[in-house]
Amino acid sequence: MSAINTVAPPKQATEKKSVYIETFGCQMNKSDSEHMLGLLDDIGYSQIDDKNDADLMILNTCAIRENAEDKVFSYLGAWKKIKDRRPGTMIAVGGCVAQDEGTSLQRRVPYVDIVFGTHNLHRLPDLVLKARATKESVCEVFQELPEDLPEIPVIRQSAISAWVSIIYGCDYNCTYCIVPFVRGREKSREMDVIAKEIEGLGLGGYKEVTLLGQNVTAYGHDLDPKVHLGHLIERIGKIDQIKRIRFLTGHPRDLNPEIIDAVKNTESACEYFHLPIQSGDNRTLRRMARGYTVDFYKRCIDQIRTKMPNAAISTDIIVGFPGETEQEFMNSINLIEELQFDAANTAAYSPRPHTPAADWEGQLSQEEKFERLRFMNSVVTDVAHKINKRYIGRREQILVEGRSDRHPERFMGRTGTNKIVNFEGQESMIGQLVDVEITTANPWALRGKLPE
Ligand code: SAH
Ligand code: SF4
Ligand code: F3S
Repeated sequence: MSAINTVAPPKQATEKKSVYIETFGCQMNKSDSEHMLGLLDDIGYSQIDDKNDADLMILNTCAIRENAEDKVFSYLGAWKKIKDRRPGTMIAVGGCVAQDEGTSLQRRVPYVDIVFGTHNLHRLPDLVLKARATKESVCEVFQELPEDLPEIPVIRQSAISAWVSIIYGCDYNCTYCIVPFVRGREKSREMDVIAKEIEGLGLGGYKEVTLLGQNVTAYGHDLDPKVHLGHLIERIGKIDQIKRIRFLTGHPRDLNPEIIDAVKNTESACEYFHLPIQSGDNRTLRRMARGYTVDFYKRCIDQIRTKMPNAAISTDIIVGFPGETEQEFMNSINLIEELQFDAANTAAYSPRPHTPAADWEGQLSQEEKFERLRFMNSVVTDVAHKINKRYIGRREQILVEGRSDRHPERFMGRTGTNKIVNFEGQESMIGQLVDVEITTANPWALRGKLPE
């Protein structure tokens, strides 16, 4: 694992300690974990891969569905046993479950030393030092991000591809979603600050950046002067060393034509759009409060494909929303076939606290939801396989990320359209853009070979 510190304020302290971190949830959480590691490095904690040897174990949690939350408590149960064996080991819980539950989490798992939220990452070193000194559990959760966003040090897990948050929070109120509650209102980082960070990444050898937010397509509307994601993409496109720009996740309603044009006209911007639709049915979309119709979404896709015929498009879809009829579910299935998504994250609806839909009548049984989910997954897989097979015989440029997890003799990279390609290559190719010929395809990945 490579560890690269891109911001290195003076070290404050102290004796050497070790930290193990486990991260659930979305890329935002993964990025937050990298920042936690950066912050803890300042007080002498270095990352290790074996939790059994760690002085501090951190669980960065996700609250998006009930099973994500359940996982938190089963992990903490197992971690308590480690703590019992190694007294003095500390446990910290952060992320969206901690933000949501705060002191009630602290009461439920009293052996946890630190509970901290998504809005006060920068306070983690102080909280750790306080819990260490007092030997009492501490809980601190802020309701909002600080007015002036602190620049937080970071230890990135990749030396090739970096996550860069550009906007925090979400101003939508989809009736199923806990995110606005645990991540707060939208707050964009200043364009100059982001550009400076990415220039630093370029100089540090990074080739790819992924601009992150729950709603990246809303980037900049709260800045003065207002800007949009297209402006930011164009600006980052001028940083020579950064060969690829990606962004995640966009809301279809905010995807203006200028953003699509900026992707088309910026050489380093990847022709890949992740645009969650959530349902292929208008009544369900309305009840979800998504703020668009199926036709509106189709026009977005149409605009992208007219301008960039080879663009890849992926989505998120929920099955079994309260009151979803069989016909409404089939409307989602038909839309997947009609729009030919490259990939789709599918999920069975899960009732969440603080969300209106959790209290609605017409909740579907687990069996019904999972039956719909299985069927949808098979359709998504078939469509993805068909699309991937079209790559066979093509020459594609990939950014080589490392060795393949499952076949360490192979290497793994991604196309601009986010297709994973496994191929036999050389160590020296890691971090390079390499041309490969695609030889075979399955629904999830491609195989390639170096051109003769
Ligand atoms: N901001 C993004 C999505 C963020 S949450 C958007 O607007 O689409 C990531 C995904 O989790 C969502 O796209 C949705 O498909 C899923 N999700 C959110 N709440 C859920 C719930 N209560 N049950 C099941 N899936 C949910
Ligand atoms: Fe959740 Fe909707 Fe916001 Fe996405 S746009 S994070 S689904 S509330
Ligand atoms: Fe989960 Fe929080 Fe992300 S709820 S999906 S980790 S914003």
